[in-house]
Amino acid sequence: METSDKKMGKIFLVFAGLCVIAIPLVVISAFSFQPGEETAATIEAQSMNFDQNGEAIFINYDALSREYLAGVSSERTLSEYYARRQYPGAPPVIPHKVDEPDLARVECLACHAKGGWSEELKRHTPITPHPEQEACRQCHIAVTDVKLFVDIDWRSVATPRLGRSELPGAPPPIPHELQMRGDCIACHVGPGAVASIRVEHPSRGNCRQCHVPDVDTSVKPFRREPRS
Ligand code: HEC
Ligand code: HEC
Ligand code: HEC
Ligand code: HEC
Repeated sequence: METSDKKMGKIFLVFAGLCVIAIPLVVISAFSFQPGEETAATIEAQSMNFDQNGEAIFINYDALSREYLAGVSSERTLSEYYARRQYPGAPPVIPHKVDEPDLARVECLACHAKGGWSEELKRHTPITPHPEQEACRQCHIAVTDVKLFVDIDWRSVATPRLGRSELPGAPPPIPHELQMRGDCIACHVGPGAVASIRVEHPSRGNCRQCHVPDVDTSVKPFRREPRS
């Protein structure tokens, strides 16, 4: 009996000792745990491939008046849209006069943040899809003197084909990249939008719930073979 009690006592002592050694280790590892690392990597990958600032749709939807969202105008055409860009996705030239030498960004956004009719230019103003890009003229240049440039044989790449819905009435795929095009409402809704791509369903919310990007047209859609 006595020897077994002593044995138990020894085992208990060893166990208690181990606990005393383990406590600081547990405390140290608890403090040095960094939960942010793995989550950050996931969000990063998603924003590159999927999100591309998708919340801009909702911010713009709330900021714009119902009248603007329902506004219609046929004055802007796709060919005019393409004519101002060197290739699809390139920044358009500024088609109107700008004060030289420099116009502060606030003045560009005075018209381009919310759109609206410009009496001076007799046109509806297209909304900028990227109000957070503040140095406008870093990318957009005014055509100052057309004669300054010599003719070249540069040809732009073909523009995407529209209306590629799989079924009549189904949502067509998004034929363009999403980089800097996260705010669908800026280009697709209101009187400032290009007439042929203007939509009346901004209130449907997240556009990409129904429209999926399909930039690579070489990928053939899945088809089920008929049973024999
Ligand atoms: C008085 C309001 C007003 C101001 C200020 C203004 N814009 Fe505009 N902008 C317009 C209107 C209206 C149009 C459409 C004109 C047209 O299509 O002929 C336009 C068109 C454009 C376009 C062509 C968009 C396209 O896809 O065709 C660009 C780029 C542009 N503006 C950039 C700028 C920049 C950069 C500034 C600041 C230096 C600026 N704008 C200041 C009203 C304005
Ligand atoms: C980093 C470069 C960059 C900056 C800075 C920039 N833009 Fe743009 N912008 C672009 C590109 C690229 C496009 C073409 C988008 C496309 O077609 O995918 C564009 C398109 C536009 C359009 C056309 C939208 C339409 O409906 O056709 C307007 C208007 C515009 N920008 C205004 C502005 C204004 C105003 C500013 C400053 C507040 C600005 N941009 C700053 C690169 C830029
Ligand atoms: C900078 C302006 C711009 C932005 C922002 C933009 N688009 Fe587009 N979109 C266009 C243009 C221009 C076309 C015509 C094809 C082309 O040139 O890419 C188009 C075509 C489309 C089409 C094909 C329509 C058809 O009839 O086949 C769909 C769908 C579409 N866009 C959805 C979206 C969605 C969803 C978003 C937001 C994630 C978005 N677009 C953001 C300019 C824009
Ligand atoms: C609930 C699903 C759904 C949502 C969300 C949605 N769409 Fe559509 N969209 C459709 C369908 C379906 C069509 C086919 C035309 C039709 O029958 O309305 C379409 C057509 C289009 C077209 C082709 C032009 C046209 O009118 O036929 C464009 C461009 C487009 N949508 C852009 C957008 C944009 C931008 C948003 C976000 C503001 C959006 N869609 C949100 C279902 C949706």
